[in-house]
Amino acid sequence: MSTLIKGGHIVTAVDDYLGDILIEGETISAIGASLDAGADRVIDAAGKYVIPGAIDPHTHMEMPFGGTVTCDDFTSGTTSAAFGGVTSLVDFCLQTPGQSIPDALATWHEKIERCPPVIDVGFHMAITDLHDGGRLEDVAQVPEQGVTSYKLFMAYKGAIMVDDETLFRTMQVAARTGALVMVHAENGDVIDVLVKQALAEGRTEPRWHAATRPPHTEAEATDRAIRLAHLAGCPLYVVHVSCQEAVEPVAAARARGWRTWAETCTQYLFINEQHLEEPDFQGAKYVFTPPPRPAHNHELLWRALQTGVLSAVSSDHCPFRISDQKTLGRDDFSKIPNGAPGIENRLHMLHHFGVRESRITMSQLVDLCCTQPARLFGLFPRKGTIAVGSDADIVIWNGEKPLTLSAASHHSNIDYNLFEGTKVVGAPEVVLLRGQVIVEGDELVAAPGAGRFVARARFGEQLQPAHEERLART
Ligand code: URP
Ligand code: ZN
Ligand code: ZN
Repeated sequence: MSTLIKGGHIVTAVDDYLGDILIEGETISAIGASLDAGADRVIDAAGKYVIPGAIDPHTHMEMPFGGTVTCDDFTSGTTSAAFGGVTSLVDFCLQTPGQSIPDALATWHEKIERCPPVIDVGFHMAITDLHDGGRLEDVAQVPEQGVTSYKLFMAYKGAIMVDDETLFRTMQVAARTGALVMVHAENGDVIDVLVKQALAEGRTEPRWHAATRPPHTEAEATDRAIRLAHLAGCPLYVVHVSCQEAVEPVAAARARGWRTWAETCTQYLFINEQHLEEPDFQGAKYVFTPPPRPAHNHELLWRALQTGVLSAVSSDHCPFRISDQKTLGRDDFSKIPNGAPGIENRLHMLHHFGVRESRITMSQLVDLCCTQPARLFGLFPRKGTIAVGSDADIVIWNGEKPLTLSAASHHSNIDYNLFEGTKVVGAPEVVLLRGQVIVEGDELVAAPGAGRFVARARFGEQLQPAHEERLART
């Protein structure tokens, strides 16, 4: 099967030009000014952007957490992703404390077999326990299976938080195995004290979620993780940076030339701590961690994206329904499951408020949502760009299409939208995964199972384009 995408405005992290793209099978076989190849299918992209399929490096599908389980499985979550122009995601395989690492990985593979994805999927290994269940020998084996990043939580005390010994020992293993270490950076011990004190004073409403996790708890843990990773000699990626106080240690480390990278998430550019005060427990929709911050952080985070201090924007898609899951914490903010949906609207929000409002260019949007995630997480150049030999993961983006974001406008199992009522201009029109159209307008064209597990390369190594891998095998 061959497909010709004609006359589109092709944008990568470094290029911006009009051209045609020929796809043969699953990969891009030619890019030119005027290709006429008698393709089986021709897609007219005149007047549209043609960009690489987006990569979401931070999602939580069907993850047990906070006394419940996120409400998207890999089929519903990746369907939602596809409608948002996302063609690959990397999900956190979470070791249940006490569980072995091979068991945890097997559990995540079962999830994608039971609920097959619509887009391609990789895993990070989230290590929660090396005292009872997890073993460093097993941690060291995980990159052999294409799982080339370890995640550790420095918060969520009494649940999945690790101590500094576990963090540092894992970093030492990563330095040997070529894995990237990712951290959720908050000081969980201090937060635990603040939460207990707030509850003892009868503070139970959602807004106390933010009040008990002040920016310095994030900044301190960010700085600690950066220094420990440098000492251990491994590369570090700080997830969901939410505020200027946490940007500063990242900027300082990068200025020193240390191997530190960091992301923010869409919600930290738009939601502020006052959202937690919405009446009738509606503030619980915004209980995600780190919490929404004072609004002045929004422009500071945009600046960190513009200047390259932050390298990526993920969604941290971690959906819990407001109707019957967030309610676990109706009488106690600390029991509200932490997390929010977002996988479908990341590009909509960044295109409208980033590109259209001149905070970033379209190339920067591609860099933040496609190319940098591909490079950092061992998917480049197979994914994350438009080049001959790369997977034909392509989004034809209609930069003029108006859309109102709402719970009803998205395709996840979630029952609310963080950006409810926001009017944006710009949306995916056609989404292709490895040459197969998976979304066309409002229709999901692919069946579950169109997506597959991707074994990723180690940090700093390239994931060979599929045809080169085949050639190497023959
Ligand atoms: O609130 C959040 N972010 N929930 C998901 C787990 C995590 O910390 O990433
Ligand atoms: Zn986190
Ligand atoms: Zn997360």
